[in-house]
Amino acid sequence: MTPPSEPPQPASESERAARSGSWRSEDRLLARAARQGGGWLLLMSLTTLVLAGIQLVLPAVLGRALDAVVGHAPRTWLVWAAALLAMLALGAALNEVADGAAVAKSTAWLRVGVLRQILGLGTRQSQRLSAGELASRLSANADDAGKVAPDVVQFCAGLLTAVGALVALALIDLRLCLTFLAGIPLLLWALHSFAGRASGIAQRYLDVQGSIAGRLVDALSGARTIAAAGTVDQEVRRVLAPLPELHELGVGTWREQTRIMAQEALLLPLLQIAVLAVAGVQLTHGRITVGEMFAAAQYVALASGVISGVSVVSQVTRARGAARRALDVLDTAMVRYGSEELPPGPGQIDFHDVSVATGGRTVIDGLDLCIPAGSLVALVGPSGSGKSTLAALAARLLDPDHGDVLLDGVALSVLPKPELRRAIAYGFERPALIGETLGDVIAFGEDQPSHETVVRAAMAAQADFFIRRLPGGYDTKLADAPMSGGEAQRVGLARAFAHAGRVVVLDDVAASLDVATEQSVTRALTEEFADRTRLIVAHRASTAARADSVIWLERGRVRGMGTHHDLWRNPEYRSLFGPDQHQTLGRSEVEALPIRSGA
Ligand SMILES: Nc1ncnc2c1ncn2[C@@H]1O[C@H](COP(=O)(O)OP(=O)(O)OP(=O)(O)O)[C@@H](O)[C@H]1O
Ligand SMILES: [Mg+2]
Repeated sequence: MTPPSEPPQPASESERAARSGSWRSEDRLLARAARQGGGWLLLMSLTTLVLAGIQLVLPAVLGRALDAVVGHAPRTWLVWAAALLAMLALGAALNEVADGAAVAKSTAWLRVGVLRQILGLGTRQSQRLSAGELASRLSANADDAGKVAPDVVQFCAGLLTAVGALVALALIDLRLCLTFLAGIPLLLWALHSFAGRASGIAQRYLDVQGSIAGRLVDALSGARTIAAAGTVDQEVRRVLAPLPELHELGVGTWREQTRIMAQEALLLPLLQIAVLAVAGVQLTHGRITVGEMFAAAQYVALASGVISGVSVVSQVTRARGAARRALDVLDTAMVRYGSEELPPGPGQIDFHDVSVATGGRTVIDGLDLCIPAGSLVALVGPSGSGKSTLAALAARLLDPDHGDVLLDGVALSVLPKPELRRAIAYGFERPALIGETLGDVIAFGEDQPSHETVVRAAMAAQADFFIRRLPGGYDTKLADAPMSGGEAQRVGLARAFAHAGRVVVLDDVAASLDVATEQSVTRALTEEFADRTRLIVAHRASTAARADSVIWLERGRVRGMGTHHDLWRNPEYRSLFGPDQHQTLGRSEVEALPIRSGA
């Protein structure tokens, strides 16, 4: 079978412009997905053709076999009839297997492409669609779109069979064929108007389904809050709010299908009766045999059956709706990386006139900053002042709307992704722990650090002692290691330490840590990572006091900069920290604080 090709890539501007051509983009995506079926699709098409051929000759052969039974044809026709029936069974089995494999390949290709795209979206773009919406596009929609090729092949083979059946009818008697053809334009008109109406309903149905999935995933991720607030009933109502519309659309689909089926149910038997009436007349005039009359009845049924395109039109409209939803994700601009080399600089970060706005509100406002290489800089400020946004900008987890962020003189936006991720490590306030074992979680990243590095990082993050207490140590499965908020935070911090490049950015990684643990972590930052540039969002005076300098943010602007000691003179600065903190301690006094013992 053919090797899988690259999953769907995001569209470039020129590709998007080219989509105004005659082939609509969702059809193009469906065609590309279909091609992934490769050899299996070929086998499926071949067996479908063979089956169609068998179906075509079977009525004639069965007619001859019937004539043979009554003694009007040689007995060998009975053997031919048996052989054809055996081939029909074998062909149908092969066809089923090839169909399944082709669909699986197309669906997998689409899923890999959409998943890659989702993971490559920037923070802003990925927030446009909820997790449930994305999941529905990745699962159900990719499935619908991946199924389309065998349906179309079956339909085309059906059309060929219908044409063949009509030719066979013409060979028996031209009048039979012409009688059948007279009704075809009406049938095509009915199918065409059905496709138009069904397409709009199918698209909306998928959208509403996606919205329910989105609400459900939100509810599941907030299950504890919902339980604590006692709002389960309201939440059930919220999740199911689009259900009436979904119901209406479902009923609409059935209504359309019933209408077209009724039209077909009326038209096709009328056609069959007309053809059979003409055949009866021909039989009484002795122009055709009993066997030919039997074959004509079979052919007219065959032509009617395969011409009935309701199911394939429904499948294709659904597949196109699904492909459109996949394209909506594939068309979203991914974060782009450059190919500039990073000089072996020491890790200086510069912000040049950087601004960020979210929801029409300025969050970072024309920031000019220099974070000197090798320094430990604390970022402080009231909640919502833009600390996390600034930290995300420094690690290019977010791109500015205006201005540039530079690392050692090179804009972060022009660096290749591996180089960027190797140079800057990031620790999150609420880390997502990804990996099979705890060791994997800490090692997770662009490069695979050694076990020694993982252990050293865990020690620095004050995670080593509780990991060692687990039955499997670093090999303990994540699922078997229930962790408190602070423990999970320390494992996440260990991951950042294990990948510390020239820069380490830590966003409120001590939020769930007790004071002593936080001090141990800060001490590791000042001692073990003394040669790196460290930018840490801090809420505690003791952390700010250990820093070489402090950036005080207020409403997205720098309110003050300097050492903690100097800033401390400002009562507004002091008010940022709670009264129970070591606010009056200088750096040397803080360093003398007791360190929490590891073992
Ligand atoms: N994903 C987002 N979408 C829209 N607005 C956001 C988003 N994240 C943050 N903001 C807005 O940006 C502003 C700054 O947020 P940021 O998270 O940087 O604050 P912070 O200083 O880290 O606060 P905290 O100390 O509470 O963590 C906030 O007012 C917030 O409303
Ligand atoms: Mg924050």
